[in-house]
Amino acid sequence: MSKDILEKIKIDFENGLQMAGGNLEKLEMLRIKFLSRKSELNQLLKGIKDLSPEEKKEFGPLANQTRKAMDTQLTDLIEEIQQKKDLEKDWIDVTAPGKKERLGHLNLLSKTQREIENIFTSMSFEIADGPEIENEWYNFDALNIPKNHPARDLWDTFWMKNKNKKGEKLLLRTHTSNSQIHYMENNKPPFQVVVPGRAYRYEATDANHEHSFCQFEALVVGDTVNVANFKSIAQEFFSAFFGEKIEIRLRPSYFPFTEPSFEFDISCKVCQGKGCSTCSNTGWLEMGGCGMVNQRVFEAVGYEKNRYQGFAWGFGIERLAMMKHKVDDIRHFRSGDLRFIKQF
Ligand code: FA5
Repeated sequence: MSKDILEKIKIDFENGLQMAGGNLEKLEMLRIKFLSRKSELNQLLKGIKDLSPEEKKEFGPLANQTRKAMDTQLTDLIEEIQQKKDLEKDWIDVTAPGKKERLGHLNLLSKTQREIENIFTSMSFEIADGPEIENEWYNFDALNIPKNHPARDLWDTFWMKNKNKKGEKLLLRTHTSNSQIHYMENNKPPFQVVVPGRAYRYEATDANHEHSFCQFEALVVGDTVNVANFKSIAQEFFSAFFGEKIEIRLRPSYFPFTEPSFEFDISCKVCQGKGCSTCSNTGWLEMGGCGMVNQRVFEAVGYEKNRYQGFAWGFGIERLAMMKHKVDDIRHFRSGDLRFIKQF
């Protein structure tokens, strides 16, 4: 055993490093060839025990140092190459143009609801809330629509399978008028309040009808509230909403909870009154129902009969949004179609 052998192994190792040229697989082969248990160097190290004491003294430390130096050199090189590779993976081109985040926004219906709320708030109305799952008393009976009365058929109802704890039948409210009762049970006149919310009807859909839609209920009660007050507030509201004076048409109608009752229409802004699918070729779009609160409703909530006067008004929010933004089909609102949603 001589120093020359060690020297030769070192030179071969150095050459091997050069040949590997930074290739990690080749470097791993080099480790196996020069540093594994079966390597020539390891065999030499194993043979040290059979050498004479002098040879052991001279050759032992040298062989060990050589092995350690080769191992360190190889390990450091592999680590360095690995780090470089990782850095390349994480490389960021700081000069590249940034990617624009696509932010979502409120749906046109929510925007319209907020707009409506703002206009009413500016006219000193309070904004209140009401439940969507309701019993028959609030949706029908208290509104002067007794059981088995044909007026109930005006609204096709989604009934819930389960009854409430009191054993009462439950339904999805067919209009926001149920909120009138809840509000009046808890408040004494005078007041002016609006209640936005969803309503549900078991009916076929078309360009103007959805099974789930939004309504806005307005209720004004005091000592001397009259139809003229209603007309002026309606005129004020619609002008503010559309940003121009628009035409309103009141038609006599029937609602059990108002007396007298009206249906109110606004002139169709999609076709400027010429007739289109939105207004079913009439030039007018039905916006809602209204009327003076029936005294029976006041009685139902515990107010003294003939003590107060008030008007109530309920209209569809989708219909208003359709008019303002020239949307020709109510079904677009909940279609989830981004081509529609992104326009607003
Ligand atoms: C009612 O719901 C009454 N509660 C309104 C009312 C309130 C009258 C207070 C008097 C006093 P009507 O069924 O007509 O009335 O509905 C009112 C409005 O809701 C309609 O004019 C329309 O704008 C909207 N609407 C009704 N059904 C649908 C539907 N299926 N899809 C979309 N909008 C609807």
